[in-house]
Amino acid sequence: MKIVKTRDYNDMSRKAANIISAQIITKPDCVLGLATGSTPIGAYKQLVEWYEKGDLDFSEVKTVNLDEYKGLPRTNDQSYYYFMHENLFDKVNINPENTHLPDGTKEDAKAECEAYEALVESLGGTDLQLLGLGHNGHIGFNEPAAEFPKTTHCVDLQESTIEANKRFFASADEVPRQAYTMGIGTIMQAKQILVVVSGEDKAEIVAKAFFGPVTPEVPASILQLHRNVIIVADEAALSKVP
Ligand code: F6R
Repeated sequence: MKIVKTRDYNDMSRKAANIISAQIITKPDCVLGLATGSTPIGAYKQLVEWYEKGDLDFSEVKTVNLDEYKGLPRTNDQSYYYFMHENLFDKVNINPENTHLPDGTKEDAKAECEAYEALVESLGGTDLQLLGLGHNGHIGFNEPAAEFPKTTHCVDLQESTIEANKRFFASADEVPRQAYTMGIGTIMQAKQILVVVSGEDKAEIVAKAFFGPVTPEVPASILQLHRNVIIVADEAALSKVP
């Protein structure tokens, strides 16, 4: 596990974008595993800038996103589909057919999750998986639990997540109750994993997840067992590392 310490959020974003960019340059038809949330936005912005300058070519890149709300139409600005188009896909020369997210509009959870898992496999697995880190150690929508979920599955959102997300919706009733997410096993099959973390509010969970015991109660702690993980985190996020 390599830890790259950065000055601040912007420095974190540029360094993370550099790693993603190196992956695209060395393997133009690579499979990128992507994340939503606030942390990767700066890295996506940097990638778009380099694309605009002519330094990056996404024409052969394939992507698989970690997760998606169940029951939200893709046109809803809170869907992860919308987020990815807004922050990256619509701004670079990626072929939309090469971009993949679990389809939250599919009612049959079992069928959709199996299809998504098979899709990741059919692409040959993920070359580089980008991850953010939740305050409770979640990665994707894999929340603290008694065991590590292996494959893509449907999760019931915790009451606290619904509560935290309701500010983005007209009312709490409109917040989706479920989501599809890659499992811990799906994430762990990636050849390389890049975790981006910023801010003092993440300092405690960074110390716990990457220096504490490996336990499904802190899902990100499993990353300690992966052979090729790079954590790019700013000083504030690393301030409680032992
Ligand atoms: C996003 C995702 C989540 C976030 C995590 C951190 O696709 O799966 O696990 O990475 O909640 O979110 P931020 O970056 O907003 O702190």
